[in-house]
Amino acid sequence: MRYMGLLETYKEYLPINENTPLLTLHEGNTPLIRAEKLSDELDLDLYFKYEGLNPTGSFKDRGMVMAVAKAMEEGSRTIMCASTGNTSAAAAAYAARGNLNCIVLIPNGNIALGKMAQAMIYGAKVIAIEGNFDRALEIVREITAKHPITLVNSVNPYRIEGQKTAAFEVCDQLGKAPDYLAIPVGNAGNITAYWKGFKEYHERGKSSTLPKMIGFEAEGAAAIVKGEPIEFPETIATAIRIGNPASWKTAVAAAEESKGQINYVTDEEILHAYREIAAKEGVFAEPGSAASIAGVLKLHKQGYFSKGQSVVCVLTGNGLKDPNVAINTVATEPLVVQDTEEAVMEAIRKLEA
Ligand code: F0G
Repeated sequence: MRYMGLLETYKEYLPINENTPLLTLHEGNTPLIRAEKLSDELDLDLYFKYEGLNPTGSFKDRGMVMAVAKAMEEGSRTIMCASTGNTSAAAAAYAARGNLNCIVLIPNGNIALGKMAQAMIYGAKVIAIEGNFDRALEIVREITAKHPITLVNSVNPYRIEGQKTAAFEVCDQLGKAPDYLAIPVGNAGNITAYWKGFKEYHERGKSSTLPKMIGFEAEGAAAIVKGEPIEFPETIATAIRIGNPASWKTAVAAAEESKGQINYVTDEEILHAYREIAAKEGVFAEPGSAASIAGVLKLHKQGYFSKGQSVVCVLTGNGLKDPNVAINTVATEPLVVQDTEEAVMEAIRKLEA
C-alpha cells in the first residue's frame, strides 16, 4: 500500500481532528540500518535510525508537518522559527506545501551551506542575526507573542507530537524497544519527543519494554551536562551549537526516568564517528548527527554496555547538508590527471600506495 505520511499513518496517536489538513511530503518511514561492522567490533547489536532520508533531509520534517498542519487548521498565515538550519529548511518546505509565509532567523555564519540553500529555494524569508541560536529563539518568541505569527520551534508542542513517531517506527522495525536509544542533544526537543513516543507505545501495549535514553551534547555546548547555560557555545557540529536548550527539563527527565544519561562528546570524537560511519557502514550523516554514535563509542570504552545489547543511534540529518565539513575532513583535493587510460592507471597506483 502507498505510504501516505505521518499524519495519516499515526492519526490515532496525534492531535488530529476532522479539520486538520493531512499535509504531507511523505515524511517519516525512514530505514533502521544495522551497523554490521561496528556491531561486530563493539559486540553490540547496533542500528542507525537514518533520519537524513526525510524529505528535507532531517528529522525536523516529522515535527514540522504536524506543527504546520495545526497552524493551517487554526487559520494562521505565517510561521516563524529560529534555527541552526534544519528546522528552517523543514519550516520553509512545509510552508511552501501549505501555502503559508515563512520567516526564519539564523545565526549569521554558523549554518551549513545546504540548509541555507534549502530555506531560500523553498521561498522563506531568511534573516541572519549577529548573534547565536539562543538569541534568535528569544527574538522569535518575542515577535510571535506580539504578532499573528505561529512559532514553529520545538517549544510548539505539536512539534514534539510529530517527532515522537520516530520512536514508534523504531519499535516496529526492531520488533521491540531497543535497550538503548542514543541521540544528539541540541535544543533538547528530540530526546523529549522520543521518550514521549516510547512511553506512549509502551502504555498502548505496542512494546513491552522501554529503552534507556542516552543523549549527547557537543562539549563546547554542553549546558545540560555542565548544569548551566553557555553564553558562547562552540562546536563544529553547528546543528547542535546551542547554549541554553529550551527543553532542558524534559531532556533531564527523559534521562532520569529511563535510567540513561546526558553526556557530551568532543568535536574530535564527533568527526571520528562521522568518518567511521561513512567509511565503514556507507552511511553519510551530518556532524551533529554523529554525536550519537560518538557517544556510544565513548561509553563503550568505559564498559557501559553489556555484550549483545541493542543500541539504536539516531542519525538526525543527512551528510549532504554540510558539504564543507565533509570536504575539509578528508583534507584532499581530488587528483587531477590527463584524460588517458595510462594516466588514470598511474593515479590509481599512486592512491593505493
Ligand atoms: N541533529 C540535527 C541534525 C539537528 O539539526 C538538531 C537540531 C539536533 C540534532 C538536535 O535536536 O534540538 O531537538 O535537541 N537542530 C535545530 C535546528 C536546533 O534549528 O535545526 P534537538
